[in-house]
Amino acid sequence: MLTLLVSTCGMGIQTARMPPAAFLSASASQLRRCASRRLAVKASATETVEPAAVDEPAAASAHKVPPMDAIVSVCKRRGFIFQSSEVYGGYAGFFDFGPLGVELRNNIKKAWWRDMVHRRDDIVGVDSSIIGSPQIWRASGHVDGFSDPMVDCKESKLRYRADQLFWARAEVDGELLGYVSVLESGTMEEEARATADKMKRKAKKQGTLTLSELKDYTEASEEEQPLIPSPATGEPGSLTPPREFNLMFQTNVGPLSDTSSVAYLRPETAQGIFTNFKNVVSTSRVKVPFGIAQIGKAFRNEITPRNFIFRSREFEQMEIEYFISPDDDAWQPALETWVQRSESWLASIGVRPELLSRDVHEEHKLAHYARACTDLAFEFPFGKQELMGHAARGNYDLTQHAAASGKSMEYFDDATKQKYVPHVIEPSIGVDRLMLAVLTSAYTEDEIDGESRTVLKIHPRLAPIKAAVFPLVKNKPEIVAKATEIFEKLQRRYYVQYDATGAIGRRYRRMDEAGTPFCITVDFDTIEGDGTVTLRERDSTEQRRISVADLMEYLEEQIDA
Ligand code: GAP
Repeated sequence: MLTLLVSTCGMGIQTARMPPAAFLSASASQLRRCASRRLAVKASATETVEPAAVDEPAAASAHKVPPMDAIVSVCKRRGFIFQSSEVYGGYAGFFDFGPLGVELRNNIKKAWWRDMVHRRDDIVGVDSSIIGSPQIWRASGHVDGFSDPMVDCKESKLRYRADQLFWARAEVDGELLGYVSVLESGTMEEEARATADKMKRKAKKQGTLTLSELKDYTEASEEEQPLIPSPATGEPGSLTPPREFNLMFQTNVGPLSDTSSVAYLRPETAQGIFTNFKNVVSTSRVKVPFGIAQIGKAFRNEITPRNFIFRSREFEQMEIEYFISPDDDAWQPALETWVQRSESWLASIGVRPELLSRDVHEEHKLAHYARACTDLAFEFPFGKQELMGHAARGNYDLTQHAAASGKSMEYFDDATKQKYVPHVIEPSIGVDRLMLAVLTSAYTEDEIDGESRTVLKIHPRLAPIKAAVFPLVKNKPEIVAKATEIFEKLQRRYYVQYDATGAIGRRYRRMDEAGTPFCITVDFDTIEGDGTVTLRERDSTEQRRISVADLMEYLEEQIDA
């Protein structure tokens, strides 16, 4: 049994308690599962799964969470998220974002950047290239170790993650009946037993059926592997031995397409921060403790992309490397501060706090340089999974890059007059995963005046459309002119929409589903009476009169405060 190794973020990869050879054969999933941030996947997917394949929740959630198909359906219906290449039948692990989706994503990124960079004086930003020198990925450990174990079924041509394919030995009165296999899920024990029962009936055996403990395919011996049935065919003999599958996408840079031109699409944004550490220190007035933030695309050739945008092959990360003193007493309070900060930031943008929990990685699973790792897990409709990681990862990456590049990564501390390579706390979250958590938190079905409605209660700060302006009727020029005037005024500051089509109730419903927090109706009172408009709040559906003059200030308070 491997005892663990690590990387944070599945990154720099070293073993704590195993020899180098064993380490090299360790899978990234083991690395990532133990080391860092990715919780064990409850997936049972294969390479050919539908892009929208969704796991069953392992157990009923203690809190009310909307079903996944409702979220997927509203996202498609209202133009948040589409399958990539949909006209060609989709492309597993890739997604496109429609008019509302791109607004929501941009607002998530803007809120993060504003709160993590602009509103702090100890964090600055960078935007590093997606493709960098392949030496980066050799030094960080990704070339050798960022892999998952996979197994192919030669018969069905399906591919599985070996650590998600489970098997057991079935015996009747101590005599071998055969082997059963199941894909990882919350109900795999029951499934394995049901399959074994069927085998026993088919073999017309009498006696007591026993099933050995379920193990994953990486734990099968060479003799056992040919006896384990493929989940696709139910027959043994077609599964290959597990092979390491590097998750980095390769490309070639320059006119030659040989091994000398191989480069990688970055699998995380973090390394671009580390490689710019010296540039930032020498060009900005930062002093330890300080952070460097980055938002950008990352690419992983996931064997089992799954659960909508939860695990995809192209995604976006928002990461901070927060550099701290190497003093032994510095990292613990810094890590705790970051975890608390993340919890309150997520709540501030509308992620339901009761769906968040901490997952503190066990100490024996950490590498020698990774001192601690705390994930924030979220109760997604398909179960509790990692939303965000926080790792105290020592000075591993800077040291690796210093050794590989020959450039010092030391920092001179003016206050203590000491030179050192800083240690780092790394909060890291995926934009897409956060978008899914925001949508899960926001999705609500309720009843208004006996009519059911679907409403996305997205925080006004993140809402794609901030307000909608309606003329009560479209055949009264003064009303239309006033509504257009208000719309154009608001449009200078926010993304707002003008809608003159259909009954007011229907217009409200359209905006509720799009997550628009405010609807403004211009009516006869506006032009003939006191110059007020009706302001209708999405969540409470309350309506009140507000003067046009106060409108902008009110929206600013609600959206930007
Ligand atoms: N630099 C640290 C790092 O990359 P990670 O746990 O592998 O660590 C950090 O990833 C975050 O990125 C995760 O918590 C998750 O929010 C997001 N993420 C990782 N892999 C993803 C994927 N395949 N699809 C969507 N988001 C992903």
